[in-house]
Amino acid sequence: MSRLRHKRILLGVTAGIAAYKVPHLVRLFVKAGAEVRVVMTPDAAQFVTPQTLSVLSKNPVLSTFFSQERQWNNHVELGEWADVMVVAPLTANTLAKMSGGMCDNLLLATWLSARCKTLVAPAMDLEMYQHPTVKANLEKIKDWGVVVLPAGVGELASGLNGEGRMAEPEAIFASVEQYFADNQPFFGTRVLVNAGPTFEAIDPVRFIGNRSTGKMGIAIANAFSAAGAEVTLVLGPTHLRPVSEVNIIPVETAEEMNLKMLSAYPAANIVVCSAAVADYRPVTIEAHKIKKKAQDIAIQLTPNADILKTLGQLKTTQYLVGFALETEQLLENAQHKLTSKNADLIIANEAGEKGTGFGFDTNQVYFVAPGNKITKFELKDKNEVAKDLLQYILEIRARKK
Ligand code: CTP
Repeated sequence: MSRLRHKRILLGVTAGIAAYKVPHLVRLFVKAGAEVRVVMTPDAAQFVTPQTLSVLSKNPVLSTFFSQERQWNNHVELGEWADVMVVAPLTANTLAKMSGGMCDNLLLATWLSARCKTLVAPAMDLEMYQHPTVKANLEKIKDWGVVVLPAGVGELASGLNGEGRMAEPEAIFASVEQYFADNQPFFGTRVLVNAGPTFEAIDPVRFIGNRSTGKMGIAIANAFSAAGAEVTLVLGPTHLRPVSEVNIIPVETAEEMNLKMLSAYPAANIVVCSAAVADYRPVTIEAHKIKKKAQDIAIQLTPNADILKTLGQLKTTQYLVGFALETEQLLENAQHKLTSKNADLIIANEAGEKGTGFGFDTNQVYFVAPGNKITKFELKDKNEVAKDLLQYILEIRARKK
């Protein structure tokens, strides 16, 4: 399987003659399973048609802040969408604007908005490529973490011979692949996560639920996906969705969640149970809406399956992670859950503490592992907690090797 499968590549094209090679590059990306969106500087269309790039990338090609229908092309959304940005060819002009922080076209605005890595393939004529300003600008963007794919040597459009040819599409493709290889320690790993609350129906309009939003589990799914894993997320009722490539299986009840987790479990290498599964469900679901009466009513509840515990019993080679949400005796209860559910790790957090638990963007957790191994983490963004989990598992893997 290609490392570029489902990766989102934002391709910036500037006005150099080497732009005629860009259709081939787009084809290489698309054939490898990547999603490609192209942003061009207005003059780049003199060298390669937006229509060609649109057909090959299977996406509209953008070059202005407003479309012909006067719709705003959102550079921030584009920049955030991308897993990697590639500018090829990169002209001396766009390079100078990048190094100066200029923003007079959509490509530059998108680059300034992008959070992802950028790779650039400069292409210019001999003297231009040797010019001290170009050299200084290249050094400057390198210092900011931009990967510069050096220009090749050969015949140039001017007829001169020397350094300045854009790196070949195959070389650019290989560099992008290498970038993902270096940043995908979980490539080839299948991760199964559950997240969110479950809703247990009382009648056709009412249910028993809880305040979980699924934020923590979604952050974990995102982090694994970004690190190259193939992620399945069994997601209870929440309006939140992962930003990364994740196979989402929506469910509503604990029973549904249990069935979906059980069927995906045998193929999984790492399993994270972060869902706030309802421990009970009503014994009967009324066929019609319960009518208001003057007296008390009682709803009889029956226990749901403990998903984590069941998975713990069926465990073969999976690394199994659970959560413990507690209001008292956090670490004792977490340690008890670790053994009673046969998990490999419990992430413990206290409900009701400032900034932790349901709905918050932050969490303060302890990792509780066998052998009384307890690691305390500071209060931090849930995305950072997710990264701590990945790091923790990587360290365990490294020790096993
Ligand atoms: N869990 C589960 N199935 C359930 C209940 C909990 O898989 N029916 C999982 C949760 O996803 C979590 C872990 O078990 O990973 C601990 O959940 P928590 O709500 O803290 O504890 P419970 O096991 O429900 O026990 P208690 O409510 O007594 O604390």
